[in-house]
Amino acid sequence: MDRPDLRRARRPGEADAPRVEQDGRVWRIRSLAVARQVLRARTQTTQAGFTAEAIPTGGLTHRPILISDGRLHDEQRSKVGRFFAPAVVAERYTARMEASADALLDRATAQGRCILDEIALLYTVEVTAEAVGLTESPVPRMARRLVSFFNQPPFDITRDDLGRTRGQWARAAVNGLLPIVRFYAADVRPAIRARRRQPREDVISHLIGEGYSDLEILVECVTYGTAGMVTTREFICMAAWHLLQNPPLRERYLVAGQPERFAILNEVIRLEPVVGHLYRRVTEPLEVNDGASAWTIPAGHLVDVCIRPANADAAAVGERPLDLCPQRTLPSGVNQAVLSFGDGAHKCPGQPLAILESDVLLRRLFARDPRILTEPELGWDDLIAGYMLRGFALELGGTKPSTSAGQTLK
Ligand code: HEM
Repeated sequence: MDRPDLRRARRPGEADAPRVEQDGRVWRIRSLAVARQVLRARTQTTQAGFTAEAIPTGGLTHRPILISDGRLHDEQRSKVGRFFAPAVVAERYTARMEASADALLDRATAQGRCILDEIALLYTVEVTAEAVGLTESPVPRMARRLVSFFNQPPFDITRDDLGRTRGQWARAAVNGLLPIVRFYAADVRPAIRARRRQPREDVISHLIGEGYSDLEILVECVTYGTAGMVTTREFICMAAWHLLQNPPLRERYLVAGQPERFAILNEVIRLEPVVGHLYRRVTEPLEVNDGASAWTIPAGHLVDVCIRPANADAAAVGERPLDLCPQRTLPSGVNQAVLSFGDGAHKCPGQPLAILESDVLLRRLFARDPRILTEPELGWDDLIAGYMLRGFALELGGTKPSTSAGQTLK
């Protein structure tokens, strides 16, 4: 009998074909090979996702990392890279992750149940805040402020005016600016002040050293807050959902060593990418090819890299692309998560942090014998073009944080 596909986050109305589609000045790419060519075309494209083209950058000397391009961007990346290298992340943040996960799960276990998406939010905000240097304000309040950025009217990135009415633009300005002002006053400014007095090993201290203004630091903190914390929260819930409903895979995950556990998590995020679309503006004619077919994308056109179909491109990831199969063989040079953390110049620097962080929380969660009370409700967000899982209620039984193999979780 045919097994059903395992992907849960399918956006209504989103097509799986054709592999390369031109619709006026917008190109939709679903072939993994072509998607990688576009994302790696560093001199012929610029960032057009996350409403980058509508963000005013006039008053900024340092362009925000997410929407910067070219040589300056390469320099910014190599400098912050040292905070996110796998060995650095493991050495610096593991103890903090373990302590945070234990504290949150101890509280939940005492109550016998939890809403996993709420725990995952507090956890990811605490861990990422440590790496970024946002440590001067209480985590639950900062988490609430970060989440409020997402309360935005819908938009269509393929339209010049984002397809919004005047009223929606006004609402976007109010809904967007107020939370940013609050985030600055309560979280970012105190963190900058503390680090101007005494620098530490974190991103904010580094940006101060590079001569960034308070406004420029704020913009980077918003990027890390949304690109780092909110995405990892969704992934943790999605991974828990898959593993809880797939006992053989969960058993394997619990006894496996770290490389195999990471392979399982990367395969889950390949199947269920949190960020569903990446966008680039072509600045010089860009030639791409998919096997024997070739296209030239003219300058000025917008490319929509559709991550869900590209990550499930059977020509690259093999048979049954919508199955969860951590041992699948990928073409050389393709990341285990395929395009879920991007590729090329803007590839996510936070992948090692996100995967380790998820692993630490999930192992501790599974050691407490969780059972699903209510499956999460799946929603969609335009800004990261991704899914949201809410109301994921779990009953927690065990209180001993140990693996099924009986080892202590250290
Ligand atoms: C599961 C969690 C995560 C997912 C799915 C994710 C996904 C992505 C993707 C797809 C991009 C590429 C954007 C593009 O090419 O246009 C990106 C960029 C970025 N991510 Fe992540 N990310 C995650 C976690 C993190 C974490 C934990 C951090 C850091 C604390 C982080 C920081 C960033 C930054 C700074 C960028 C911008 C890089 C640049 O434009 O050069 N992310 N992320």
